[in-house]
Amino acid sequence: MLSREENEKLTLIGPGTPAGALLRRYWQPVAASSELTEEKPITRIRILGEDLVLYRDTAGGYGLVAEQCPHRKASLAYGRVDDEGIRCPYHGWKFNAAGRCLETPAEAPGATLKDAIRHTAYPVEKLGGVLFAYMGPEPAPALPRWDVLAWEHGHRYIRIFEPLNCNWLQCMENSVDPSHLYWLHGDLAHLKPMMDGYEEKHDFIKDDYGIMKRRTTPPSEPGGAPQVDQHPLLFPNTLRHVSRDRESGRHRHNLQFRMPIDDTHTQVLVCNFEPDPEVHTPSDADVPVEYFEFRTGENRDEYRMDMVAFQDFMAWETQGPIMDRSEEQLGLADKGVVELRRLLSEQIDIAAEGGAPLNVVPADQGKPIIELEVINERIGLKRPETRPAA
Ligand code: FES
Ligand SMILES: [Fe+2]
Repeated sequence: MLSREENEKLTLIGPGTPAGALLRRYWQPVAASSELTEEKPITRIRILGEDLVLYRDTAGGYGLVAEQCPHRKASLAYGRVDDEGIRCPYHGWKFNAAGRCLETPAEAPGATLKDAIRHTAYPVEKLGGVLFAYMGPEPAPALPRWDVLAWEHGHRYIRIFEPLNCNWLQCMENSVDPSHLYWLHGDLAHLKPMMDGYEEKHDFIKDDYGIMKRRTTPPSEPGGAPQVDQHPLLFPNTLRHVSRDRESGRHRHNLQFRMPIDDTHTQVLVCNFEPDPEVHTPSDADVPVEYFEFRTGENRDEYRMDMVAFQDFMAWETQGPIMDRSEEQLGLADKGVVELRRLLSEQIDIAAEGGAPLNVVPADQGKPIIELEVINERIGLKRPETRPAA
């Protein structure tokens, strides 16, 4: 149980909030790169409570700027791009990806007004078909090259889900809550509900990247071996998971990013990678993207429950727009949730004091690839899968 103040500290992410300051220290995914095309090079993005416009210029560079033009506030989402940046649709002011104003066409020749203008702009980088933005203080840290983004021998594709009407932390608490598997997903996973006295062991091991969640399931028959699965929560808002793709039969490694749109909405974007020695997907390539809707019924106020992800979405949304943690009743089986909150609170304090929070690495010290120790014996993955970079 948390006090109201503690709950606000951990959940609210707008500009100027403690958790908002922490999350702004990390590169956040804002789109799939294949969503921006020559025909549609501009898209509107809302993230961490800020309204922004993401664009691809005609030279192939990316920019992310505040939506409202600093001149007289028209939306840059209706602007046009050229090889230098984006131009406002109203009076034609032009901005580059660093937020500099390059032209103010209606001013007299030689006017210096543009030199005084600095438009809000955030750096963008592409990796694994995902566009990441950095919205924190300079200098930007290294963009982590997680295995799923950097592996090249296999199939990579992105799934983007309808935005959730709930706070981001509900999604992340779910990632350190192994006991829900048997109830929420029991039918789709063909597992019996876990009853009182069921002796499954759950460990939450803090490591360099966040919390490794390890499940040890007792042998199903006498004399059998226990089964292990372990999946890391990559601090602060990503889950690294592996399952098996039903159609291809391949292991589907994925990064599940839960990006706060604002305090009460979250965007889930999943980058998947299925290893296949026959296929080469460069880490800087655009990849296919699929969209999923999970609301159904006449008023779209019911949940589809035919996908594991949708079942989770039902649980997260029905906890409330921002779950009131002053009214919960935790049990001993919720220790992962308690550990995550403790870690989050501690890292918010580190960020507030100007320190480097977990997973924030200076740009020149970033690793070429970060291989994660993901295991899922249930699907036959007994030791971490590694793939050469090329
Ligand atoms: S409002 Fe953008 S140029 Fe005038
Ligand atoms: Fe789940």
